Amino acid sequence: MAGTDFRPSPFLSGHHRPNRMEVDAPDLFVSGELPEDLAGVFYRNGAEPLYPPTAEDYHWFDGDGMVYAFFLEDGRVSMRNRWVRTDKFLLESKYRRRLFGVHGNPATTDPLAARTRYNTANTNIIIHGGKLLALMEGAPPVELDPRTLETIGEEHYGGVVTTTFSAHPKLDHANGELINIGSVARRGGTAPEIRYDILDFEGVPIKTETIPVPHQSMMHTFFVTENYVVFPVTPLDVSIRRAIAGGPMVAWDPDRPTKLGVMPRRGTAAQVRWFEAAPRQMMHEANVWEQDGRLIADVAAADGTALFPDTHGRKRSHCETRQSLRRWTIDPAATTDVVREQIINDRDIQFPRPDDRLMTRRTDHAFANSNLRSVDGRADGMDAVLRVDTRTGAEDLYHFGPGAAAGELIFAPRVGGAGELDGYALTLMHRAGAAETELVVFDAGDLAAGPLARVLIPFAIPSGFHCNYYSIDSPLYRQAMR
Ligand SMILES: [Fe+2]
Repeated sequence: MAGTDFRPSPFLSGHHRPNRMEVDAPDLFVSGELPEDLAGVFYRNGAEPLYPPTAEDYHWFDGDGMVYAFFLEDGRVSMRNRWVRTDKFLLESKYRRRLFGVHGNPATTDPLAARTRYNTANTNIIIHGGKLLALMEGAPPVELDPRTLETIGEEHYGGVVTTTFSAHPKLDHANGELINIGSVARRGGTAPEIRYDILDFEGVPIKTETIPVPHQSMMHTFFVTENYVVFPVTPLDVSIRRAIAGGPMVAWDPDRPTKLGVMPRRGTAAQVRWFEAAPRQMMHEANVWEQDGRLIADVAAADGTALFPDTHGRKRSHCETRQSLRRWTIDPAATTDVVREQIINDRDIQFPRPDDRLMTRRTDHAFANSNLRSVDGRADGMDAVLRVDTRTGAEDLYHFGPGAAAGELIFAPRVGGAGELDGYALTLMHRAGAAETELVVFDAGDLAAGPLARVLIPFAIPSGFHCNYYSIDSPLYRQAMR
């Protein structure tokens, strides 16, 4: 395959086109004034396949994890990016070609890879327990050096995590606990269940529980509040059996409702109570908390998905499946199992985020990348960023203009700052045809005023998945960088 280019997949061209290179840039140019009290590290993970896919359709979720790190201090920025050296990456590097089927489908994986785990480590990048961890939901975390991004290896937490881990574990800043799930399909998926874990501030497992679920769904996220955990089982069904029979491994089943399993945070499987909502695509929430005895979940939800076909083989467009910011209310004391849904703001959004320091506790603002395109929607990239006051639905919007593809917008606290909007909002943005990508810095409370500063990266960084920011005065930063 040497010298071949990527196939013309929508996830390998345009704003998704992979770089296939690793860079160290010691001092990037900055347009505007980078605030002195913005000091910390911004990490982003995403899918950039080392080798072109095989004959199957490529999928955005399938590429090798590439981590970008931006170190901000004294108004200056350095960056580096590195692929995560997973066992998959090392094996395919050795044979200099793609060996795994899409999503690790065993029916289309080369026998050379039969004994190697399909781990792309491409979805999220977090600090916990003093370690930088690259996450995907199908495999254990992979630890990287937080400064050099050199791969250290899979983290198995003393044998507790040997199969799956969430790409969206929840950190409780009050005590440093990381609450996690792993979707586990055993006995060919006939007894679907998930694993629920709590890790303490040092990353030591203090609780593991196996939870039976109604069916094996792609549980990309879950909810944690001060006292509860919620397991969302959406109609996005996962079936290895269907994949081996030649169908899609992940498919939208329009005949299933959304089920939300509510359990006390330190409870047991026997205490799970299932609530029911209309069929919804829901992979990301801004935040979830308890208020007046109820659970409030501010989520990005849609009536279907463009990411996967349905169980009848039909595919829907992004425009048909716009994701709006919605509030789900669950009352654990109610006599009925109904989830109340209300639309907070109806713009099409991709990744909603809170001030992470308040995750599991009440927040009044959600940050998100959004798009104002009326025709191709999310498929052409997100051309705007948005902050929504979730009490009123009022929005603070900045539109980058035609051709822009903006990544997840995240809150970055000011050094010494404490309030919910006391800091900045950061996103990576690339314009079609531009030589540069920008790390754009906004005042978190006034996106509409436009960027305070733009860090100029002299090449195109493809659209990726999730990013996180760790301020130099956060306990997590100090623990990892000691
Ligand atoms: Fe995600």
